[in-house]
This record gives sequence, structure tokens and C-alpha cells, in this order.
Amino acid sequence: MIIAVDGPTASGKGTIAKALAAHFGLPHLDTGLLYRAVGRQVLLAGGDPDDQTDALAACGFPDALLLEPELRSEESGGLASRVSIHPKVRAALYERQRAFAMQAGGAVLDGRDIGTVIAPDADVKIFVTASTVARAQRRFAEMQAQGRSVTLDEITADLAARDARDSGRKDSPLAVAQGAVVLDTSNLDRDQAVAEAIRIVERARQNAD
Ligand code: DC
Repeated sequence: MIIAVDGPTASGKGTIAKALAAHFGLPHLDTGLLYRAVGRQVLLAGGDPDDQTDALAACGFPDALLLEPELRSEESGGLASRVSIHPKVRAALYERQRAFAMQAGGAVLDGRDIGTVIAPDADVKIFVTASTVARAQRRFAEMQAQGRSVTLDEITADLAARDARDSGRKDSPLAVAQGAVVLDTSNLDRDQAVAEAIRIVERARQNAD
């Protein structure tokens, strides 16, 4: 079974994808991490994330980079969003994601274009979303817990910029895939959102039988 989980920044898609993978005993790939590694690698190489040639060269990042805690930072998220605009970067990362999706037994992948481009043939597609206010407040609480000094306004502005870039780009923009079930987590806590996602998968399985 292939489960595609897409959605904007801080929608809860990563948490949901991880929980689905654990619940159904499937391997999980956070595809945003690949773009984050490319963004990080461009900086390490002294390149420009907005330059397609520099970003493409960074697609050969060492796998050890995927384990760096720094990849989880807001800065890395912003870099990832910038390098992900380049069609050649998306093409370079395609095979790795596709192979993960197609492995025997299935997989859970989360990102922006899993249901539309990487695995349009997925058995279940979930589009996780939440209001900008809810997403900004969640991200704010996370960052405060990490002791980082940011304001809610800064986070809201950053989310809006990421949303605009991810949804507005020409190649594989963030969009609800055909056949996807939309899961709005604005008014759900973590456990409620995960329970609802599990219900969506089980319903899809029953319909397929
Ligand atoms: O999911 P995330 O926040 O880690 O993703 C970081 C950026 O990477 C996101 O803003 C856009 C890009 N991305 C993408 O273009 N396609 C994906 N499948 C996953 C992430």
C-alpha cells in the first residue's frame, strides 16, 4: 500500500505520515528533508540557492547530511523552498522518491507533490491542511519551546512566503491531488488528527476491496 501525504508547511503532515507508517508497519520518507539537504549543501558549497546550476550541483549531497539536526531549522526550510523551484532539482530527486514509493510492500511519503507527481498511483492520498493562523501558532509554540526568539508576526510572514512559493511555482506546485481526501487539522489536536488519518486510510482500503 502506498500512502501519499501532502500539505503546506506546519499543517501536521509530517506527524501524520510518521504515525501512519508506524500504525500500518510501512517505511516512511520525509521528502522535504531531501530538499532541505540540497538547500544546506548549496550554502556549504558557497553557492546561490536561487541559481539552478548551483542547486543542481548540490543534489549530490552526502547522505550523512540527512541526519543533521540543522536541517530541521526554519532557515533550512526556507532554503529548501527556494531550491525546490528549479525543475532540474526536482527531476534529480525524482528517482530516489519514486523508488522509495515503489518498494515491495509499499510506503508512506510526505511532501508537496507526492499525490500529484511522485506517486499519482498511490492507494491513498491525503492532503493535510490547516488555517494560516493555526499553523503559525503551532510553529510559534514549537520555536518558543526550543528557546528561539521569534515573533508570531515573523512566523506568519515566513509561512505566507513559503506557501506562495510552494503553491505558485510552475513545476509540481503544492496542490490537492486528484482523488485526495482533504484533512483540515486546524481544530484537531495531534491524536485526533492521527485518528482521522487512520480512518481515511481504512476507508480507502475497504473501498478498494
Ligand atoms: O516539508 P518541508 O517543510 O520539510 O519542505 C521544505 C520545502 O521543500 C518546502 O517548502 C518545499 C520543498 N518540498 C517540495 O518542493 N516538494 C516536496 N515533495 C517536499 C518539499
